[in-house]
Amino acid sequence: YNHRVPRNRREILDCLLTGLRRLEYRGYDSAGICVDAQPAATHIKDAPTCNGHANGHANGGEASGPGTPPLVIKSSGKIAELEAQAQRELEDLQVDLGTVFACHAGVAHTRWATHGPPTATNAHPHVSGRDHQFVVVHNGIITNFRPLKNFLVSHGFSFVSDTDTEVIPKLCQYVYDSSPPDTPLSELVLAVMEQLEGAYALLVKSTHYPGELVACKRGSPLILGIRASPAAAVASPGVKGCYQAAKLRAVEGGFECFLASDASAVVEHTKKVIVLEDSDLVHLKDGAYFLFNAAERKAEENAAAGSPRLKAVAVQRALQTLEMEVSQIMKGGFDHYMQKEIHEQPESIYQTMRGRVRMEPQVQEGSLDPYKQQRIKLGGLAEHLETIRSGRRIVFVGCGTSYHASLASRQTVEELVNLPVACELASDLLDRRCPIFRDDTCVFVSQSGETADTLAALEYAKSRGALCVGVTNTVGSAIARSTHCGVHINAGCEIGVASTKAYTSQIAAITMMALALSEDSISKREPRDAVIEGLAHLPDKIRQALALDGEMRELAAKLKGEQSLLVFGRGYNYATALEAALKVKEVALMHSEGILAGEMKHGPLALVDESMPILVVATRDGVHKKMVSVIEQLLARGATKHLLVVCNEGDEEVAGLCASHGCSLIRVPQVVDCLAPVVNIVPLQLLAYHLTVLRGFNVDQPRNLAKSVTVL
Ligand code: G6P
Repeated sequence: YNHRVPRNRREILDCLLTGLRRLEYRGYDSAGICVDAQPAATHIKDAPTCNGHANGHANGGEASGPGTPPLVIKSSGKIAELEAQAQRELEDLQVDLGTVFACHAGVAHTRWATHGPPTATNAHPHVSGRDHQFVVVHNGIITNFRPLKNFLVSHGFSFVSDTDTEVIPKLCQYVYDSSPPDTPLSELVLAVMEQLEGAYALLVKSTHYPGELVACKRGSPLILGIRASPAAAVASPGVKGCYQAAKLRAVEGGFECFLASDASAVVEHTKKVIVLEDSDLVHLKDGAYFLFNAAERKAEENAAAGSPRLKAVAVQRALQTLEMEVSQIMKGGFDHYMQKEIHEQPESIYQTMRGRVRMEPQVQEGSLDPYKQQRIKLGGLAEHLETIRSGRRIVFVGCGTSYHASLASRQTVEELVNLPVACELASDLLDRRCPIFRDDTCVFVSQSGETADTLAALEYAKSRGALCVGVTNTVGSAIARSTHCGVHINAGCEIGVASTKAYTSQIAAITMMALALSEDSISKREPRDAVIEGLAHLPDKIRQALALDGEMRELAAKLKGEQSLLVFGRGYNYATALEAALKVKEVALMHSEGILAGEMKHGPLALVDESMPILVVATRDGVHKKMVSVIEQLLARGATKHLLVVCNEGDEEVAGLCASHGCSLIRVPQVVDCLAPVVNIVPLQLLAYHLTVLRGFNVDQPRNLAKSVTVL
């Protein structure tokens, strides 16, 4: 949205398409864009009022029909295809890319299909009718779209797509047609919000409201980036009516706003952002933003029959400064984000620990208790440590890789904190309505901080009175905001859909949490010291594991034509087996199963023959002997064609066993047992990466998957 910042059509299209490219990792099966067909006459006007009747008609005080329909361009496939489609359509229509817009509101969307296949028709934006009076893009799911669609069909609307979203622009049109002519766009959208159930982040533009845009959200993330020249923008609270919202008004000079699902689409334009809360509604108009929250009216306010359930209450939201750098969302010298993120791990792990772990513990002269030098500082948890220690148990909750990170750290927490620890998949916890108690601590692990299942489990645990802790990588995310306290993993922006650096940083963060919780325990001093020492050396150990890149490529070349890969692990490395198999499955599109080696004889052994590729994680730890026995049993069953074994450098026992059968060794440096999952996964991430490249699949955007699953 630009106001008094003249932008030509080419710049507007570029801005929208670049924004989509930044967000493509969130969804990439179809995309669309909407820009105005011609510049609108706009004026700087008085602020509207929330009731919409005092300050004149939305089109500047005069009744008028809708403006020219905007251009809506959509395509299936990736953003590159949308770009090509846009070029073709604009050329055919002889649209001048040089046309300058003093004020313009454009919208764009990249989709991850939930309702209806990924076709151009199902791509967003969706429109109210052929003349595009209302144009909407939507993230989330409208759960009551069927009754709404039936209602709209009975009122003469016809639908072209299979999506849930299409009811929204049609509902906007219906509400517009049945409202007084001077109703502000925000009022219309409020009335639409009242009808919608499910989760959404919406952008709405309309030919009846040129130069305006309304955004609102419930359950799906939305941020507002603001760029206003300092001379032009003045904070002016005290505008009349309920539009006394936090507001910047363009007095002279420019004002631009960027609404997006996450910061990566905004950061190259501005670092000043507002993270919108649920039920927030933003109205961009006349070079200002007006911020409301759609609040439920009190019973007495609803006295009149048919009066609206929601009312817009002006709210202030803190303007935050993004810490993200544009370089973080670029590939650097790498071919893929996943590759870059795997190689970033020495640095990302360091960032997770920075300022929190004493890297070089020293005994200071005169110190009475040298041990005190090895404290772990987790500011976000400090005030809650005692409550957690004295609680009944700790329940970790997450999905996908984040769930694996909690499994990898479970034993560390059990051993250091001496509390029962459960790990739950968020969806399963909800399905079972798992008993959660007031004296439980529930730890929600999520890279994005936005995963719908994890968020729903968090609301459930909160309603049961548990202390809720967040472990996320996204400052300001829904989970970070909604938990009582937490730890940011500070791994930096992760864009590859397959999580890599967030996984290792999550393990490090949970390990630090266990260290902080066991700080007062004298009996745990020795193991704590060993873990702290291990953390200090972790970046170097990861660096050594990354040096296996070439070997992993060679192994991937041997495996690339296979159908399946079984991965065995136990103890701390059961999670490594699960996570390695998930990587192979999700990006290399090869069937792979992570198997608890202790269960091998209870079924999986039936799959083993001379042709089945098998990976065994057998680094030296408390279960090493058992893993040697697992290798022996696998060999006895003839698994020799592709038996790959992850072992420690210098482990001659495993090396000897494997050498005699021609198996491949992946030699990783040894670290303290509880940190082995961090080092051991690194070559396996590389293996999955190379397998994907060699099999010719898309590394960063695997088929049918999305980075943040913000729908239930
Ligand atoms: C999706 C992603 C996974 C991720 C999972 C949980 O499935 O593809 O990589 O592990 O969501 O996401 P979260 O952001 O909650 O960690």
